[in-house]
Amino acid sequence: MDTRNVNDFQAWLSLLRESGELIATDKSVDPDRELGAISRTALRRGYPALLYQKVARSPIPVAVNTMATRRRLALLIGAREESLILDYLDKCSRSRYCSPVIQDDGACKEEKAFGRDVDLSVYPQTVWNDGDGGVYFTLGVVRIKNPENGKGNISVNRLQVKDRNHIAINTGRERGLGRAIWKAWDKNEPAQVVITFGGDPLYTLAAIESLGPDQDEFELAGALKGGPLQAVYGDICKHIEIPAHSEIVMEGLIRPNMLVPEGPFGEVNGYYCAQDTAPLMEVQAITMRRDPVMPATYAGIPPSETTVIQDFLIEAALTRALSKSGVDVRKIHIPPGSGGYHAIIAIRKNSEGDVRKVTRFAVAVLSLKFIVITDDDVDVSRQEELYWALSTRFSSEKDLHIINNMPAVNIDNTAALNDGKRTVTKMVLDATRKHDGSGASVRERRNERIDQYLSYLEGILNVDGELRTM
Ligand SMILES: Cc1cc2nc3c(=O)[nH]c(=O)nc-3n(C[C@H](O)[C@H](O)[C@H](O)COP(=O)(O)O)c2cc1C
Repeated sequence: MDTRNVNDFQAWLSLLRESGELIATDKSVDPDRELGAISRTALRRGYPALLYQKVARSPIPVAVNTMATRRRLALLIGAREESLILDYLDKCSRSRYCSPVIQDDGACKEEKAFGRDVDLSVYPQTVWNDGDGGVYFTLGVVRIKNPENGKGNISVNRLQVKDRNHIAINTGRERGLGRAIWKAWDKNEPAQVVITFGGDPLYTLAAIESLGPDQDEFELAGALKGGPLQAVYGDICKHIEIPAHSEIVMEGLIRPNMLVPEGPFGEVNGYYCAQDTAPLMEVQAITMRRDPVMPATYAGIPPSETTVIQDFLIEAALTRALSKSGVDVRKIHIPPGSGGYHAIIAIRKNSEGDVRKVTRFAVAVLSLKFIVITDDDVDVSRQEELYWALSTRFSSEKDLHIINNMPAVNIDNTAALNDGKRTVTKMVLDATRKHDGSGASVRERRNERIDQYLSYLEGILNVDGELRTM
């Protein structure tokens, strides 16, 4: 099987299993903290995807970490790991966007429950961290139609289960989802929403991308797939397209101004976010496959699956932005653990203006607030090379650029409140060589004699760096 044949979550799990990327276990796991603790430990041990086939107090298995490495993202996208970013950017070019095709029926409607039969307690009641405010579903995709222009929007949001048929959905007014909810409320109308779990994993990946209000990420999922996804209309939400192969579908509405407390929740930046209010969805129907598996993910401590995906998408966004800068950008590295806030960019500098141009485009990427620019003789993914460049080419007096009052990511706990807006100060460190007469570095002056020694050494060392037995 390859990714082209994968159009649902269980096929994705089978492909991961065939590729040696998934561990399935029959041992019962308790969704109340044990699932979180094991997933968290796994993240620190090579990030295996895990399928828990038996979950305490729920008939529904759970799978975590299915997109938690670049290797798995490459497998999903049908790209080579080495060229993942460029292949991704190529696949998601606007000309390839395509709307889903609508079918009369789909696997996601094999079982149905309406009204009083809706019971969210059937699904794994997952408390991920000790300090979380309750039970959370973490990998549901929320779909809504923007009442202004009729365009669809999908996003992954944390979902706090409030009771048998209510879910608080975390979003902000400035987000695609939040904007659509508040627009409906402005007209004193309820907002219809559909939450799906599973389906084509490219649909979930596309939901994490933030496109403008005029673009539907469902069409991006089609572009990534190389053709339209299949969809059905909802039983309640009759105008909302739903991936036909979803595992579980929750349909319902958010009544005007219905805000309830949500949180705290151990977030992706490694801190608990404070309790706030969030729109409350009344779940009116649940449809699903006969034997669904629920996708989920642990946040809480970086690096996690979320940071791996977000770092990848930020690297893609930065690559796209810098391609417009006119600068010869050679390599970009988003250091794992930085939560997508740091970037190291290697350029082949042709003039001193190049650093300014890179700065302008890089600081425009929302999450980036700590940026280092180096020359291309530095391998930006190696810490020791980064520190070498910083120690020998960066002067705090001349090469530090501070940019104040930039918009902040909503969960950035260092953000300040300025005129009602959350802002951060961004910092750019120019660690490139200046054309000011400083001497050539020894590696630039590699001479013939040293090259001979190096190839001799390579000949007698094996791949692990040990001497070959002669
Ligand atoms: C696992 C996971 C959980 C997320 N949870 C939230 C969330 O609770 N609230 C939020 O605003 N964004 C969350 N995000 C990020 C959004 O999915 C992402 O920014 C998306 O593009 C937002 O789309 P929108 O601006 O169209 O609403 C999450 C991302 C992932 C991968």
